[in-house]
Amino acid sequence: MSYYEVYERSLNEPEDFWREASALIDWQTKPRHILDDSAPPFYRWFTDGVLNTCYNALDRHVASGRADQAALIYDSPVTGTVESYTYRELRDEVASLAGVLVDRGVTKGDTVIIYMPMVPQAAMAMLACARIGAIHSVVFGGFAANELATRIDDAKPHVIMSASCGIEPNRIVEYKPLLDEAIDIATHKPSSVLLLQRPQAVASMIEGRDVDWADAVEVASPADCVDVAATDPLYILYTSGTTGQPKGIVRDNGGHAVALAWSMDALYGVQPGDVYWAASDVGWAVGHSYIVYGPLIHGCTTILYEGKPVGTPDPGAFWRVIAQHGVNVLFTAPTTFRAIKRDDPGAEFMEPYDLSRFRTLFLAGERCDPDTLHWAEEKLGVPVIDHWWQTESGWPMVTNPIGIEMFPVKAGSPTLPVPGYDVRVLDEDGDDCDPDQIGAIAVRLPLPPGCLPTLWNADERFVEAYMKRYPGFYLTADAGFKDADGYVYIMSRIDDIINVAGHRLSTGAMEEVLSEHPDVAECAVIGAFDELKGQVPVGFVVLQAGADRDPGEVEAELISMVRDRIGPVASFKQATVVSRLPKTRSGKILRGTMRKMADGSDWTMPATIDDPEILGEIHTALIGMGYGSST
Ligand code: COA
Ligand code: AMP
Repeated sequence: MSYYEVYERSLNEPEDFWREASALIDWQTKPRHILDDSAPPFYRWFTDGVLNTCYNALDRHVASGRADQAALIYDSPVTGTVESYTYRELRDEVASLAGVLVDRGVTKGDTVIIYMPMVPQAAMAMLACARIGAIHSVVFGGFAANELATRIDDAKPHVIMSASCGIEPNRIVEYKPLLDEAIDIATHKPSSVLLLQRPQAVASMIEGRDVDWADAVEVASPADCVDVAATDPLYILYTSGTTGQPKGIVRDNGGHAVALAWSMDALYGVQPGDVYWAASDVGWAVGHSYIVYGPLIHGCTTILYEGKPVGTPDPGAFWRVIAQHGVNVLFTAPTTFRAIKRDDPGAEFMEPYDLSRFRTLFLAGERCDPDTLHWAEEKLGVPVIDHWWQTESGWPMVTNPIGIEMFPVKAGSPTLPVPGYDVRVLDEDGDDCDPDQIGAIAVRLPLPPGCLPTLWNADERFVEAYMKRYPGFYLTADAGFKDADGYVYIMSRIDDIINVAGHRLSTGAMEEVLSEHPDVAECAVIGAFDELKGQVPVGFVVLQAGADRDPGEVEAELISMVRDRIGPVASFKQATVVSRLPKTRSGKILRGTMRKMADGSDWTMPATIDDPEILGEIHTALIGMGYGSST
């Protein structure tokens, strides 16, 4: 079938389409009721289905002949380790770890927070939760104690699973003091902490609360898979919203398993037994869907990489991993390729490696600039596919569907809507835009299986954030257009989210931190263009009247506040004191104009500006920080 036939069918006969796809999953009770649309905008898929996601990711492959195939390869240049786990070994490790959770009193429906670096135990922790029907919430290691505390208070975990440290190329990041501080700050207290001691930093334990991971696993009895309803939550994943309070994206078990299983062949062109590498982090949606669940549900070998594209030890790191493990498909963020290209423009570090098994590169997480796309195409000699999705969807929304039909690549566009997603570009009034006309990108409801059914304990916020602006549609918060061939172009966010090295961050949350500084009267944070990271945050602050402070000192304090409160991942390294902020006459800060100035793009003096003089000072400040060349 052609892409267009598949696509039309997915929209016109969604229940038949997804019933067929559900055969990719082993069910305890096969779903007969495919879509519950009785309470829009809340939709539920496979409502009477019963399954276990961990069973589908591990046990069924052990039973059907993949027991001795590598399920997960851990490759860690920062510790000099390569370890391979077969499906049988991974199943056994996960079953024992699930037994530990049962021993700690975790039962179906309980929540567990996982705050871990990129070690195989992080994937095992997720699968162990899935095995017993517990709901995991993974928190990215680059977040600070305060962010972790917010998530602890929202998810209210029974147990927290963590490790003594993460390893960054320039330092050991001790997780335990951050975790202890987060539990101190949080109102909710977990009953226990399961802690993986790594030799690079051994953490001190709190008597009565902390349990040594290895000791506990050694004495645990393996736990079996528990039946869960398709609509039961598998996990919560917090992502940046427009305030400091992150959104808890909920993922169900059934829709998620079906969507990921279907995506592996149709969208990634991957077969069971192939080696699939998503070079991301288990703390992000990409890590959940395509390091852990997708490849394992599909019977692939997945790579879990603890390292960077450059500096661990050189820009040949990715080529070494691809050659050593026979990687067929790589999925990463464009920033990875910008980093490699910056350090090795001629791709000389690629030469020693045999990349003959490598078939396709997928890029997502941020806009893919044509230079990076063409460089990767030229150096790798394989198709390079830009595709677009969000934490909320959990799997691609727009891609070049190579497993169904490959379309000509147009640089700057992730190509065509994925079957199941009725992607529209809407104008202010909710009407479809004409080709090439920019509008808000929305998806007509219902969203396909796998997408968020709601936000954790926040149905109202779910409706408010995504469903209200255009009734009957999901608002993606991205703006863009379709061309005359129907190719979708994603141009920018319509909210305050920025994308820093593929990491989604809220400038609003950074502004909340800056405004807590006692000498700051008001502030604005914008995302400025950065050649490596795509965007980086830049802060502007106005001091309180009478604050007699050295601006340089305040700026340094602000930088360290954001690092301490949000985390190093925010990459907040530039703040500047100005006398006033540019505003409209009604008092709205002109962040859009500041951003255009920072990026050196054309900007016009807004007609509603209150005090045009101040733009000169902002421009000078930007030039001083290395931004904004034209006026
Ligand atoms: N735990 C603790 N700290 C972390 C961390 C983690 N898991 N991940 C990143 N950090 C820290 C880094 O050490 C760095 O700290 P520093 O300010 O002291 O140097 C900071 O957070 C920013 O990290 P990062 O965004 O990784 O920038 P970088 O300059 O260290 O590296 C790249 C730049 C391009 C090499 C890197 O961003 C990269 O590999 N990007 C890939 C993007 C990606 O995988 N995105 C996932 C979405 S698909
Ligand atoms: P996250 O939820 O962290 O996956 O971030 C999702 C956001 O990243 C999207 O809403 C987009 O703004 C951006 N994004 C992801 N993939 C792409 C892409 N291929 N092109 C442009 N922007 C993208």
